[in-house]
Amino acid sequence: MTPTRIDWVAEHCRLLRSISAEFMDTLPFQGLTIGTGIHLEAKTVALLLTLRDGGARLVSTGNLNTTQPEAVEALKAQGVTVIGSPTKDREEHGRYLDQVIAERPDLILDNGGDLFAKYLDAPYDGLRGGTEETTSGRMRLEPLRDRLKLPILVINDSPIKQFAENEHAVGQSSLESYLRFTNRVTNGEQVTVFGYGACGRGVAASFRGACARVTVVDTDPVARLRAHLDGFAVPPRGEAIASADVIITVTGARDVLTAADLPLLRDGVILANAGHFPAEIDVEAIAGSAEVAGLREYADDLMTLELTDGRRIHVISRGHMFNLAGPRPLGNSIESMDLGFALQARCLEAVANGSVDASSCVVPVPGRIDAAIATSYLDRKYPAPPGA
Ligand SMILES: NC(=O)c1ccc[n+]([C@@H]2O[C@H](COP(=O)([O-])OP(=O)(O)OC[C@H]3O[C@@H](n4cnc5c(N)ncnc54)[C@H](O)[C@@H]3O)[C@@H](O)[C@H]2O)c1
Repeated sequence: MTPTRIDWVAEHCRLLRSISAEFMDTLPFQGLTIGTGIHLEAKTVALLLTLRDGGARLVSTGNLNTTQPEAVEALKAQGVTVIGSPTKDREEHGRYLDQVIAERPDLILDNGGDLFAKYLDAPYDGLRGGTEETTSGRMRLEPLRDRLKLPILVINDSPIKQFAENEHAVGQSSLESYLRFTNRVTNGEQVTVFGYGACGRGVAASFRGACARVTVVDTDPVARLRAHLDGFAVPPRGEAIASADVIITVTGARDVLTAADLPLLRDGVILANAGHFPAEIDVEAIAGSAEVAGLREYADDLMTLELTDGRRIHVISRGHMFNLAGPRPLGNSIESMDLGFALQARCLEAVANGSVDASSCVVPVPGRIDAAIATSYLDRKYPAPPGA
């Protein structure tokens, strides 16, 4: 049989491959069920199968709009229980999450805080804790610490995740996705990036590298100063919107761009979101505004709104995370995800074996795990010379 993309990805997730080999001996998850709510795509298949190799029974569902059918098939073929199918419908997605929690997992691997929030709606005995992948999830779970009272390690708050995935990889994959979706030029275009955190810094740098003129908007003056000193324009918000040919949101916040901004948007502007939730651009309210006279939906998840005054506004993937949507979505680079998922595997192992306790509720990855993963990655790149 011809090897698939999933095989290609598995082959290049070198950290996960070595953890898998170790887990087959140590079986850290023997007898445990891990409930997961993370994008189901080729790289997460490699992570989930690593956990399975550690003895776990897996019950998995995806996130909104990011489930890839080939990934589901590959997981099912390996005996993973996969719940649900690709959906953009929040209620349907909510039902899938409920079904994961109904299996009473011993550990939770969450992405966006969805599963831990569902657990708090219907708590049960035996949950040991788990991991949360994202900034958005950390923001959601932090206020719930008093109710959660479990070890929950936030992968996003590892410095490795910050620079390897959020900064370098999200920047590259957002540029790759922009080109893949639109097939439009970046050179000389005015690109406005909302959010200058780790992801926004990478997005801004990647578009600058593709010869765009990049402007940054951030609500935090310190982030704005950083963008300014990095050489980006940081004009007032209204000016940044009005001058943009392309607007990309990547903040983790809601309603970053709303129908109230419609009067400012230039004819032909392209809107895209790389933040976790499809709530950064209020596409529903924008499309439903009285200023919109018509709506054209193209194949490949592109949409054009025709305004009563003749302006056209293009929206990529209805504001869903565009580097994991549309035709042939590849997401972030394999190596960046291998690093992040190696952190996931080691953190779940630490929760399973009790080496972190409830005092570590919604906290960053322990430094010893970061150091071990960094060493392991670099050892592969710089093996000791023969005879050393
Ligand atoms: N697409 C992907 O592959 C991918 C990967 C990792 C993270 N993410 C998501 O990207 C988002 C950003 O992550 P991050 O790690 O950069 O977060 P971060 O917290 O480091 O940075 C977010 C920045 O946005 C700014 N901000 C908040 N609200 C704003 C608003 N209304 N207008 C302008 N700026 C605003 C904040 O001040 C901050 O500087 C999150 O939703 C995260 O989950 C996406």
